[in-house]
Amino acid sequence: MTGLFITLEGPEGAGKSTNREYLAQRLRDRGLDVVLTREPGGTPLAESIRELLLAPADEPMNSDTELLLVFAARAQHLAQVIRPALARGAVVLCDRFTDATYAYQGGGRGLSTQRIEQLESFVQGEMRPDLTLIFDLPVEVGLSRAAARGRLDRFEQEGLEFFEAVRSTYLSRARDDLQRYRIVDASQSLTAVQQDLEELLPEVLERALG
Ligand SMILES: Nc1ncnc2c1ncn2[C@@H]1O[C@H](COP(=O)(O)OP(=O)(O)OP(=O)(O)O)[C@@H](O)[C@H]1O
Ligand SMILES: [Mg+2]
Repeated sequence: MTGLFITLEGPEGAGKSTNREYLAQRLRDRGLDVVLTREPGGTPLAESIRELLLAPADEPMNSDTELLLVFAARAQHLAQVIRPALARGAVVLCDRFTDATYAYQGGGRGLSTQRIEQLESFVQGEMRPDLTLIFDLPVEVGLSRAAARGRLDRFEQEGLEFFEAVRSTYLSRARDDLQRYRIVDASQSLTAVQQDLEELLPEVLERALG
């Protein structure tokens, strides 16, 4: 038995967390076993690594350190949560995964794609998400939504150039693999976004119930 691994991606304030709840409810309505989780984090140990990654600190974090912490958290999350859930046939809805590493550590920090690919293979083997929804919106819109939530984390303190690189990395990855990725226009009203998700639902259900 193998479940379905769906990841939600996009910059700060794109609506990943909001819409993850919506999708989970829609899938549960159909009787599916749905596991909601997020990265970095998803287990107590991985959430501790998340705190290290997000907390603004006086000592600047080396980009390689950041990359390795992201994958360290991911290894733990895969072992404790994602692989067991998929093994019992669940649908895993994960808020950010390795595409975020390509976007933030690759696009944003400028680390080489090849280096990220090496770690991806090391930590994940062949496993990749079955479906990835990219919530896309202009950088300024996402940042202002995120800023409205209060204190900025270490990533949210980056400048526009960083987030433009994040956005374009997500979009170029999506365009290279239309089988796996769906781009959702996250600049629309929440109702319109959820209408778009509704249109994706039959495909998701077909894959999940397969
Ligand atoms: N389509 C939308 N239109 C207007 N506001 C929205 C929309 N989607 C989400 N929001 C609001 O924007 C804020 C950020 O949404 P959410 O937390 O879901 O984003 P996120 O992608 O999870 O962000 P982060 O990466 O920072 O966790 C929330 O206050 C949410 O209510
Ligand atoms: Mg969120």
